[in-house]
Amino acid sequence: MFLQGKLALVTGSGRGIGKAIALKLASQGADIIVNFFRHREAAEETAREIEALGVKAQVIRANVGNPAKIDEIFDTISSDFGYLDILINNAASGVGRSAMDVDIKAWDWTMDINAKAALLCAQHATKLMEGRGGKIVSISSLGSSLVLPTYAIVGISKAALIALTRYLAIELAPKNICVNAVAASAVETEALKFYIKEQLMPDTRQATPAGRMVTPEDVANAVAFLCSEEASMIRGQTIIVDGGTSIAPFTIPKETQ
Ligand SMILES: NC(=O)c1ccc[n+]([C@@H]2O[C@H](COP(=O)([O-])OP(=O)(O)OC[C@H]3O[C@@H](n4cnc5c(N)ncnc54)[C@H](OP(=O)(O)O)[C@@H]3O)[C@@H](O)[C@H]2O)c1
Repeated sequence: MFLQGKLALVTGSGRGIGKAIALKLASQGADIIVNFFRHREAAEETAREIEALGVKAQVIRANVGNPAKIDEIFDTISSDFGYLDILINNAASGVGRSAMDVDIKAWDWTMDINAKAALLCAQHATKLMEGRGGKIVSISSLGSSLVLPTYAIVGISKAALIALTRYLAIELAPKNICVNAVAASAVETEALKFYIKEQLMPDTRQATPAGRMVTPEDVANAVAFLCSEEASMIRGQTIIVDGGTSIAPFTIPKETQ
């Protein structure tokens, strides 16, 4: 249990990949702050599953796209715990449009939740990591470097997250805060159903060189490794978790390109 006694905030951890990350870190002994926005029941169920692993869970509702709500998250962590060891920037939203159809509202909504929130959370988290070091991991996606249909604004926000990861890694290195990212290919969650039609899922599975789709647990395993001391000399990097998809693009079926 290499995270015994650590405290982790996982944004957007009531469902999907965030939930898998929260449970993985909890299974290694970390207490978890479960942040959610719209689905309270899912977040409370996640908290119950975390507590069943023998660690603490605290649920905080906040739209991370709103800076005042981020202030509230960290005020709560500050008064209830007074420290933080791990920040996982996982929460994401977006508008599925081509670049030419993105308007100012869609741009701001997506960038605020997916990129600006990661910066603001890191700024707050760093204060609570002062003198003890810490780990920050942001969840990006292959759409940060590959062009995917109707993914323009999300892909741009995910590229910003990767650039932010590099800058933070260098700026926070003297404080012994390790900053990295994980970029996943298609993972079977609610979000994926939004971007890829249900009938194309089998093709996506077949197109993955590893022979199956990436699961939320695959992403969580990479995140947990980056939160371990064994990964402490990995700084500012983006670990790709895609079963080989990005280095074998010829296997991607035409319908999904
Ligand atoms: N699924 C994929 O294929 C895939 C691939 C690559 C990368 N990713 C990345 O992995 C991460 C998780 O994706 P997912 O597939 O698990 O997504 P998901 O199933 O749609 O879940 C999104 C999570 O983010 C939370 N969230 C959304 N907007 C929020 C906001 N404004 N404030 C706070 N929380 C918010 C949601 O909470 P509520 O339900 O409470 O609103 C939910 O827990 C994202 O960063 C995503 O971009 C996903």
